[in-house]
Amino acid sequence: MKGIVLAGGTGSRLFPLTKVTNKHLLPVGRYPMIYHPLMRMLRAGVRQVAIVTSPEHMGDVVNLLGSGRALGLDLTYRVQDEPGGIAQAIGLCENFVGEGPVLVILGDNVLEDDLTNHVDAFGDQIRKYGEGARVLLKEVPDPERYGVPRIEEGRIVEVIEKPSDPPSSYSVTGIYFYDRQVFEAIRNLSPSRRGEYEVSDLSNWYASRGTLTHGTLAGWWGDAGTLEGWHEANRLAADLVYPEAESAS
Ligand code: G1P
Repeated sequence: MKGIVLAGGTGSRLFPLTKVTNKHLLPVGRYPMIYHPLMRMLRAGVRQVAIVTSPEHMGDVVNLLGSGRALGLDLTYRVQDEPGGIAQAIGLCENFVGEGPVLVILGDNVLEDDLTNHVDAFGDQIRKYGEGARVLLKEVPDPERYGVPRIEEGRIVEVIEKPSDPPSSYSVTGIYFYDRQVFEAIRNLSPSRRGEYEVSDLSNWYASRGTLTHGTLAGWWGDAGTLEGWHEANRLAADLVYPEAESAS
């Protein structure tokens, strides 16, 4: 399975911390934020990873990570010229993904769980049904900050982006598994009211076909994209050590 880490966007919710640097390069615990999704991919055996970022920050991201060799990764880079949303950024990786499947993690997501079991579960899903997508959920006290699933009879029937009246107490975390159809789905999306191609619309494309499955994270999870979330992620990840990243020169 290949991977995509999304590190675009303007980081406006963390301004002025992000005035001269990319949000995903800010520290979380002992590491630059983007190390967290990358290390979760590495541990789950996903080594071929595309990183999508903006033209302004591509140089810094490449300076930090290079080819990925020092971390045991094989990195590819894609430029998102304008911030057009998560789904648009995934769409830039079509040639990289090839026949799929692909694991996508948002560059500001910090998590405790090893993802190996989820990678295996999605592999089983594709082998058995030949298609689909899978999202990972986490119960949170403030679901209105996230994409929230409406669950009926154990299945996600809809994901609502930042609902004022959340239909459940779960967040759809920024960890997504897709088959190759994701690129066809992206071509069929329309921009949302804020003018972006939303990842929740992508989930809904699969949900409407009955091919969206989900798993749940057991350990802690955080989205470091807001000041509050960044502080919380730093608290949660304070003691997290990735030996692979310690030895990298
Ligand atoms: C994004 C997604 C949202 C998801 C969240 C998880 O929101 O749009 O559906 O729940 O990531 O981190 P953002 O953090 O960009 O506001």
